[in-house]
Amino acid sequence: MKPTLSDLEKLALEAGAILREGYNKEHTVHYKGTIDLVTEADHASEAFLLGEIKSRFPGGHILAEESGSIQGSNEDLWYIDPLDGTVNYAHHIPIFCVSIGFSTNRQMTLGVVYDPMRNELFAAERGKGAFLNSKRIQVSSITELEKSLLVTGFPYDTWDTELDNFKYFERLAKKTQGVRRLGSAALDACYVAAGRFDGFWEFKLKPWDVAAGGLIAKEAGGKVTAIDGRDDFLSAPLSILASTPGIYEAVKGQLS
Ligand code: IPD
Ligand code: CA
Ligand code: CA
Repeated sequence: MKPTLSDLEKLALEAGAILREGYNKEHTVHYKGTIDLVTEADHASEAFLLGEIKSRFPGGHILAEESGSIQGSNEDLWYIDPLDGTVNYAHHIPIFCVSIGFSTNRQMTLGVVYDPMRNELFAAERGKGAFLNSKRIQVSSITELEKSLLVTGFPYDTWDTELDNFKYFERLAKKTQGVRRLGSAALDACYVAAGRFDGFWEFKLKPWDVAAGGLIAKEAGGKVTAIDGRDDFLSAPLSILASTPGIYEAVKGQLS
Protein backbone atom coordinates (compact mmCIF):
# COMPACT_ATOMS: atom_id res chain seq x y z
CA MET A 1 0.00 0.00 0.00
CA LYS A 2 1.23 3.52 -0.84
CA PRO A 3 1.12 6.17 1.88
CA THR A 4 -0.79 9.42 1.43
CA LEU A 5 0.32 12.87 2.55
CA SER A 6 -2.12 12.60 5.41
CA ASP A 7 -0.46 9.31 6.50
CA LEU A 8 2.90 11.09 6.65
CA GLU A 9 1.39 14.02 8.53
CA LYS A 10 -0.03 11.72 11.20
CA LEU A 11 3.29 9.92 11.58
CA ALA A 12 5.14 13.24 11.97
CA LEU A 13 2.64 14.57 14.52
CA GLU A 14 3.02 11.44 16.66
CA ALA A 15 6.80 11.33 16.41
CA GLY A 16 6.86 15.07 17.20
CA ALA A 17 4.81 14.42 20.33
CA ILE A 18 7.47 11.93 21.46
CA LEU A 19 10.14 14.63 20.99
CA ARG A 20 8.06 17.24 22.81
CA GLU A 21 7.47 14.92 25.76
CA GLY A 22 11.17 14.21 26.17
CA TYR A 23 12.23 17.82 25.68
CA ASN A 24 12.14 19.02 29.27
CA LYS A 25 13.60 15.86 30.75
CA GLU A 26 17.31 15.32 31.38
CA HIS A 27 18.87 14.02 28.18
CA THR A 28 21.27 11.14 28.01
CA VAL A 29 23.64 12.17 25.27
CA HIS A 30 25.82 9.73 23.31
CA TYR A 31 28.51 10.97 20.98
CA LYS A 32 28.74 9.62 17.43
CA GLY A 33 31.55 12.11 16.73
CA THR A 34 33.08 15.13 18.47
CA ILE A 35 29.96 17.25 17.90
CA ASP A 36 27.63 14.69 16.31
CA LEU A 37 25.46 13.36 19.09
CA VAL A 38 22.32 11.36 19.68
CA THR A 39 19.76 11.40 22.51
CA GLU A 40 17.22 8.83 23.66
CA ALA A 41 14.58 10.96 21.86
CA ASP A 42 16.23 10.30 18.47
CA HIS A 43 15.94 6.57 19.15
CA ALA A 44 12.38 6.68 20.52
CA SER A 45 11.11 8.75 17.58
CA GLU A 46 12.89 6.54 15.04
CA ALA A 47 11.68 3.30 16.65
CA PHE A 48 8.10 4.59 16.49
CA LEU A 49 8.41 5.64 12.83
CA LEU A 50 10.11 2.45 11.66
CA GLY A 51 7.58 0.28 13.49
CA GLU A 52 4.64 2.10 11.86
CA ILE A 53 6.16 2.16 8.37
CA LYS A 54 7.14 -1.51 8.42
CA SER A 55 3.76 -2.69 9.62
CA ARG A 56 1.49 -0.36 7.64
CA PHE A 57 3.49 0.12 4.43
CA PRO A 58 5.63 -3.01 4.12
CA GLY A 59 8.13 -3.52 1.32
CA GLY A 60 9.72 -0.08 1.04
CA HIS A 61 13.39 0.68 1.52
CA ILE A 62 14.10 2.94 4.48
CA LEU A 63 17.00 5.34 4.97
CA ALA A 64 16.90 6.39 8.60
CA GLU A 65 19.54 8.36 10.44
CA GLU A 66 20.05 6.08 13.42
CA SER A 67 19.39 2.71 11.74
CA GLY A 68 21.05 3.36 8.37
CA SER A 69 19.79 1.67 5.25
CA ILE A 70 17.04 -0.94 5.56
CA GLN A 71 16.58 -3.02 2.45
CA GLY A 72 13.06 -3.30 1.00
CA SER A 73 11.51 -5.25 -1.85
CA ASN A 74 9.72 -2.61 -3.92
CA GLU A 75 10.42 0.78 -5.55
CA ASP A 76 9.49 2.88 -2.51
CA LEU A 77 12.08 4.71 -0.42
CA TRP A 78 11.50 6.46 2.89
CA TYR A 79 13.86 9.14 4.24
CA ILE A 80 13.59 9.44 8.00
CA ASP A 81 15.24 11.99 10.25
CA PRO A 82 13.60 11.25 13.61
CA LEU A 83 15.03 14.41 15.17
CA ASP A 84 16.64 17.08 13.02
CA GLY A 85 18.36 19.59 15.29
CA THR A 86 19.70 17.15 17.88
CA VAL A 87 22.36 19.53 19.19
CA ASN A 88 19.66 22.16 19.82
CA TYR A 89 17.48 19.54 21.50
CA ALA A 90 20.27 18.37 23.79
CA HIS A 91 20.97 21.98 24.80
CA HIS A 92 17.27 22.72 25.42
CA ILE A 93 16.99 25.08 22.47
CA PRO A 94 13.49 24.66 21.03
CA ILE A 95 14.46 24.52 17.34
CA PHE A 96 14.15 20.97 16.01
CA CYS A 97 11.76 18.82 14.03
CA VAL A 98 10.94 15.44 12.61
CA SER A 99 11.38 14.99 8.87
CA ILE A 100 9.80 12.31 6.67
CA GLY A 101 10.25 12.04 2.91
CA PHE A 102 8.78 9.42 0.60
CA SER A 103 9.89 8.65 -2.93
CA THR A 104 8.79 6.05 -5.40
CA ASN A 105 10.54 5.09 -8.64
CA ARG A 106 13.31 7.55 -7.69
CA GLN A 107 10.92 10.49 -7.54
CA MET A 108 10.24 12.36 -4.31
CA THR A 109 6.49 12.47 -4.01
CA LEU A 110 5.70 13.33 -0.38
CA GLY A 111 7.46 15.37 2.29
CA VAL A 112 6.51 16.39 5.81
CA VAL A 113 8.46 18.35 8.43
CA TYR A 114 6.96 18.92 11.87
CA ASP A 115 8.18 21.38 14.51
CA PRO A 116 6.48 20.19 17.71
CA MET A 117 7.41 23.24 19.82
CA ARG A 118 5.63 25.69 17.51
CA ASN A 119 3.11 23.16 16.28
CA GLU A 120 4.09 23.92 12.68
CA LEU A 121 3.47 21.18 10.16
CA PHE A 122 5.05 21.76 6.75
CA ALA A 123 3.88 19.41 4.02
CA ALA A 124 4.07 18.94 0.27
CA GLU A 125 3.01 16.50 -2.37
CA ARG A 126 4.71 16.54 -5.76
CA GLY A 127 2.83 18.84 -8.16
CA LYS A 128 0.31 19.97 -5.54
CA GLY A 129 2.01 22.83 -3.74
CA ALA A 130 3.34 23.27 -0.22
CA PHE A 131 1.44 23.91 2.98
CA LEU A 132 2.02 25.09 6.54
CA ASN A 133 -0.73 23.87 8.87
CA SER A 134 -2.91 23.33 5.78
CA LYS A 135 -2.43 26.88 4.43
CA ARG A 136 -0.60 27.22 1.13
CA ILE A 137 2.90 28.72 1.39
CA GLN A 138 5.18 30.37 -1.16
CA VAL A 139 8.77 31.46 -1.34
CA SER A 140 9.53 35.19 -1.15
CA SER A 141 9.59 37.47 -4.19
CA ILE A 142 12.97 39.05 -3.35
CA THR A 143 15.23 39.70 -6.35
CA GLU A 144 18.18 41.51 -4.75
CA LEU A 145 20.82 39.87 -2.60
CA GLU A 146 21.12 43.04 -0.49
CA LYS A 147 17.51 42.66 0.61
CA SER A 148 17.71 38.96 1.39
CA LEU A 149 18.01 37.01 4.64
CA LEU A 150 19.75 33.67 4.26
CA VAL A 151 20.37 30.63 6.44
CA THR A 152 23.09 28.00 6.40
CA GLY A 153 24.65 25.27 8.51
CA PHE A 154 28.09 23.82 9.18
CA PRO A 155 29.22 20.20 9.05
CA TYR A 156 29.97 18.16 12.19
CA ASP A 157 33.55 17.66 11.02
CA THR A 158 34.05 21.40 10.69
CA TRP A 159 37.26 21.13 12.75
CA ASP A 160 39.08 19.14 10.12
CA THR A 161 37.39 19.60 6.77
CA GLU A 162 38.39 22.08 4.11
CA LEU A 163 34.73 22.47 3.16
CA ASP A 164 33.88 24.08 6.50
CA ASN A 165 31.65 26.74 4.83
CA PHE A 166 33.19 29.67 6.74
CA LYS A 167 34.46 31.39 3.59
CA TYR A 168 30.99 31.39 2.05
CA PHE A 169 29.34 32.39 5.31
CA GLU A 170 31.55 35.46 5.53
CA ARG A 171 31.09 36.32 1.85
CA LEU A 172 27.31 36.13 1.93
CA ALA A 173 26.98 37.74 5.37
CA LYS A 174 28.61 40.84 3.86
CA LYS A 175 26.30 40.96 0.85
CA THR A 176 22.90 40.31 2.46
CA GLN A 177 20.81 41.40 5.44
CA GLY A 178 22.37 38.50 7.30
CA VAL A 179 22.97 34.77 7.43
CA ARG A 180 21.32 32.82 10.25
CA ARG A 181 22.32 29.42 11.63
CA LEU A 182 19.33 27.68 13.22
CA GLY A 183 20.74 24.13 13.53
CA SER A 184 18.03 22.21 11.67
CA ALA A 185 18.49 21.77 7.93
CA ALA A 186 14.94 20.49 7.45
CA LEU A 187 13.46 23.60 9.08
CA ASP A 188 15.90 25.84 7.18
CA ALA A 189 14.48 24.52 3.88
CA CYS A 190 10.89 24.88 5.13
CA TYR A 191 11.52 28.46 6.25
CA VAL A 192 12.59 29.24 2.68
CA ALA A 193 9.35 27.61 1.51
CA ALA A 194 7.37 29.85 3.87
CA GLY A 195 9.16 33.01 2.67
CA ARG A 196 10.84 33.59 6.06
CA PHE A 197 14.30 33.13 4.60
CA ASP A 198 15.12 33.92 0.98
CA GLY A 199 17.72 31.19 0.60
CA PHE A 200 19.38 28.25 2.32
CA TRP A 201 22.61 26.50 1.43
CA GLU A 202 24.64 23.80 3.14
CA PHE A 203 27.38 21.32 2.24
CA LYS A 204 27.91 17.77 3.49
CA LEU A 205 24.35 16.95 4.49
CA LYS A 206 22.69 13.53 4.52
CA PRO A 207 19.66 12.61 2.37
CA TRP A 208 17.30 12.41 5.38
CA ASP A 209 18.18 16.02 6.34
CA VAL A 210 16.70 17.56 3.21
CA ALA A 211 14.62 14.99 1.28
CA ALA A 212 11.34 16.31 2.71
CA GLY A 213 12.39 19.95 3.14
CA GLY A 214 13.77 20.09 -0.41
CA LEU A 215 10.45 18.92 -1.87
CA ILE A 216 8.54 21.39 0.31
CA ALA A 217 10.75 24.30 -0.84
CA LYS A 218 10.34 23.23 -4.48
CA GLU A 219 6.60 22.92 -4.21
CA ALA A 220 6.50 26.40 -2.66
CA GLY A 221 8.06 27.77 -5.85
CA GLY A 222 11.70 27.64 -4.80
CA LYS A 223 14.62 26.62 -6.96
CA VAL A 224 16.27 23.66 -5.26
CA THR A 225 19.47 22.06 -6.54
CA ALA A 226 22.83 20.87 -5.33
CA ILE A 227 25.22 23.80 -4.85
CA ASP A 228 26.92 22.95 -8.16
CA GLY A 229 23.54 23.24 -9.91
CA ARG A 230 22.68 19.52 -10.24
CA ASP A 231 18.93 18.86 -10.05
CA ASP A 232 19.44 15.67 -8.10
CA PHE A 233 20.50 17.26 -4.83
CA LEU A 234 20.06 14.00 -2.88
CA SER A 235 22.87 12.18 -4.65
CA ALA A 236 26.47 12.32 -3.44
CA PRO A 237 28.30 14.58 -2.86
CA LEU A 238 25.25 15.96 -1.11
CA SER A 239 24.77 19.70 -0.84
CA ILE A 240 21.75 21.91 -1.22
CA LEU A 241 20.89 25.37 -2.43
CA ALA A 242 17.21 26.18 -1.94
CA SER A 243 16.20 29.70 -2.73
CA THR A 244 13.61 31.98 -4.10
CA PRO A 245 14.18 32.07 -7.90
CA GLY A 246 14.93 35.82 -7.86
CA ILE A 247 18.29 35.42 -6.08
CA TYR A 248 19.20 31.81 -6.91
CA GLU A 249 21.89 32.69 -9.48
CA ALA A 250 23.34 35.44 -7.29
CA VAL A 251 23.70 33.11 -4.28
CA LYS A 252 25.07 30.30 -6.44
CA GLY A 253 27.61 32.70 -7.89
CA GLN A 254 28.96 33.40 -4.40
CA LEU A 255 29.34 29.69 -3.59
CA SER A 256 32.10 28.87 -6.07
C1 IPD B 1 21.95 18.34 11.54
C2 IPD B 1 21.15 19.60 11.37
C3 IPD B 1 22.05 20.81 11.22
C4 IPD B 1 23.04 20.63 10.09
C5 IPD B 1 23.82 19.33 10.26
C6 IPD B 1 22.85 18.17 10.35
P1 IPD B 1 20.90 16.38 13.07
O1 IPD B 1 21.12 17.19 11.66
O2 IPD B 1 20.29 19.52 10.28
O3 IPD B 1 21.32 21.98 10.94
O4 IPD B 1 23.90 21.74 10.06
O5 IPD B 1 24.67 19.18 9.17
O6 IPD B 1 23.56 16.96 10.46
O7 IPD B 1 22.20 15.71 13.38
O8 IPD B 1 20.49 17.36 14.08
O9 IPD B 1 19.85 15.41 12.67
CA1 CA C 1 19.49 15.83 10.46
CA1 CA D 1 18.84 13.56 13.28
